[in-house]
Amino acid sequence: MKGVILAGGLGSRLLPLTKITNKHLLPVFDRPMIYYPIETLRNAGITEILIVTGGNSAGDFLRLLENGDELGVKINYAYQRGEGGIADALALARDFADQEPICVMLGDNIIERDIRETVARFSASDQGACILLKEVEDPERFGVAELKGDKIVGIEEKPTAPKSNLAVIGIYMYDGRVFDFISTLEPSARGELEITDVNNAYIAAGEMTFGVLDGWWTDAGTFESLLRASKLVAEGGANRLG
Ligand code: G1P
Repeated sequence: MKGVILAGGLGSRLLPLTKITNKHLLPVFDRPMIYYPIETLRNAGITEILIVTGGNSAGDFLRLLENGDELGVKINYAYQRGEGGIADALALARDFADQEPICVMLGDNIIERDIRETVARFSASDQGACILLKEVEDPERFGVAELKGDKIVGIEEKPTAPKSNLAVIGIYMYDGRVFDFISTLEPSARGELEITDVNNAYIAAGEMTFGVLDGWWTDAGTFESLLRASKLVAEGGANRLG
């Protein structure tokens, strides 16, 4: 299985920190943010990784990570023009994936433990897609899953009245058809191709499974969550590269 880390975006919720650099190069405690998703993938046995980024700081990823040798992975790069959203960025991974299943991570997602078991279960399955969920106190900030029994029946992106407190975290596993699903998407109200629409397409096809993550999880795209991420990492737990 190959890995894709999505590290684009304007990082506008973190201005002025992101005025001259990319959000995923900012520090989380003592490492650049991008190290953490790389470590999560490496830890799950995924060492061939594509980083999709954009904007003026794209070259800084190359300077920081080079070809991945020092981090024990092989890193490839793709450049996203404009701000078309998460699914638009993922579309750039089509040739890299080459029909194989992929594990996609949003570059600002940091977890305490690992995803080894879920990745192994997905690899051994008939594929489709698999997402990871986590109970949170503020589900309206995220994609939120609706469950019926042990089945996931829908995901709502940042709902005002969430149907559960299970957030869809930014780690997704897809089979080779993900790119066909993306090519049918229309931009959302915020003008982006939404990863939630991709996931709902798999749900509609009856091909989505899920796992619930053990240990803490945070994203790091706001001042509060960036600070929380640094504190959680500093207190110990997260696997860290380097
Ligand atoms: C994105 C996804 C959302 C998911 C979140 C996890 O939100 O759209 O479904 O719950 O990442 O970090 P964004 O951070 O782009 O607002």
